[in-house]
Amino acid sequence: MTYFDCVVIGGGAAGLMCAAQAGLRGRSVTVLDHANKVGKKILMSGGGRCNFTNYYVEPSNYLSNNPHFCKSALSRYTQYDFLELVNRHGLAYHEKTLGQLFCDNKAKDILNILLAECDNAGVRIATECSIHKVKALPAETPTTNTPRYTLETSQGDIQCHSLVVASGGLSIPTMGATGFGYDLAKQFGLRITPRLASLVPFTFKGDLLATAQNLAGVALPVNIESQNQTFSEALLFTHKGISGPAVLQISNYWLPEQTITINFLPNADLAQQIATWQQEGHKAELKNLLSRILPKRFVTEWLTINSATKELADKTVAQLSNINIEQLVSHLQKWQCIPAGTEGYKTAEVTLGGVNTDDVSSKTFEAKKVPGLFFVGEVLDVTGWLGGFNFQWAWASGYCAAQFV
Ligand code: FDA
Repeated sequence: MTYFDCVVIGGGAAGLMCAAQAGLRGRSVTVLDHANKVGKKILMSGGGRCNFTNYYVEPSNYLSNNPHFCKSALSRYTQYDFLELVNRHGLAYHEKTLGQLFCDNKAKDILNILLAECDNAGVRIATECSIHKVKALPAETPTTNTPRYTLETSQGDIQCHSLVVASGGLSIPTMGATGFGYDLAKQFGLRITPRLASLVPFTFKGDLLATAQNLAGVALPVNIESQNQTFSEALLFTHKGISGPAVLQISNYWLPEQTITINFLPNADLAQQIATWQQEGHKAELKNLLSRILPKRFVTEWLTINSATKELADKTVAQLSNINIEQLVSHLQKWQCIPAGTEGYKTAEVTLGGVNTDDVSSKTFEAKKVPGLFFVGEVLDVTGWLGGFNFQWAWASGYCAAQFV
């Protein structure tokens, strides 16, 4: 029987960080991952450049049933701690927008840093390792190396003092995502909050789908609102509906059957703009004037999908009544719809919900009623906004748990 002080299930962002830090504390550590290589989501993240953290991390950037849970870890291991690590390894990176930090070269640079840290800390990494069963051993008076768990794996049985579940969420099953962590949590009596695919594009159906398809590829800045939460970022029409950063952000807050409101002219007062055009005596058709402030393809298509605005496209601004102007403002700046759904876990960046944080210590990440069992990263009910916040949660939770395993 092989023994490690700490077994980490899942070699993703949180698991590798936790393993390296526990190893540095002198703990014997192994990472077990069923995939053929570790860190696959790191490699595909940020369009291949990994948006590994954000300059402006705040607890308010995270959703959870208990919004206070993330505060302690985020303050004990900050974005600047992670920057210290990547600077020490000479990583070249840049801020793209809104504090989002990306690798200059490839996401692989981040994975290589974590692997180098694991190597330096003597961490053993086993890939293609399936975990068949986890059993708690009868409670003894524990020392720091009393075995407390036995794992039956495809590579033999392993015992450990601390078991860290870092198996992530359900998004992108083709990259190795499974519900393993939730099942293990349930096995040991922890509760799970409802889970949903999140940071995910919306799908449309019927006429709206046809409109989106006609506009596929058009991107424009918007304000998007749902559940009293607003984001100001880009929206992209797709062959299935809408996507882009604004849409992914609001998907964290949207629930099925709820309305979203979009302002396609977030930086303009359209009524005022039309009044100015009227005063200037423009003779051009409305559609041509609107094409000065919106993508032409969008204007042509968008005005035709609403019976009220359809007839206005070819009019001059002088021909618009106050009611017409209100109709235009409503259609372009307060447009509402109920998405048919989302693209689901196939394309979602994260899983909303997860292991109930009320059952886990925010200091140690140990299950409150199950000594030696820890949960870190996305498997927990903590979900960040788009922009490097989810990786920062993985680093922070992994680091903090490592101090107690
Ligand atoms: P993660 O999913 O990284 O790792 C879990 C590990 O557990 C995997 O290696 C998996 O193989 C393993 N595993 C699962 N089930 C197992 C089982 N039964 N047995 C053994 N091993 C098992 N975030 C961000 O901040 N910036 C970004 O740029 C992006 N970009 C991005 C792009 C895309 C396409 C996706 C899908 C996601 C992102 N994210 C992101 C989100 C980010 O990738 C995610 O939040 C973290 O990877 C979560 O880290 P974890 O370590 O918790 O899980």
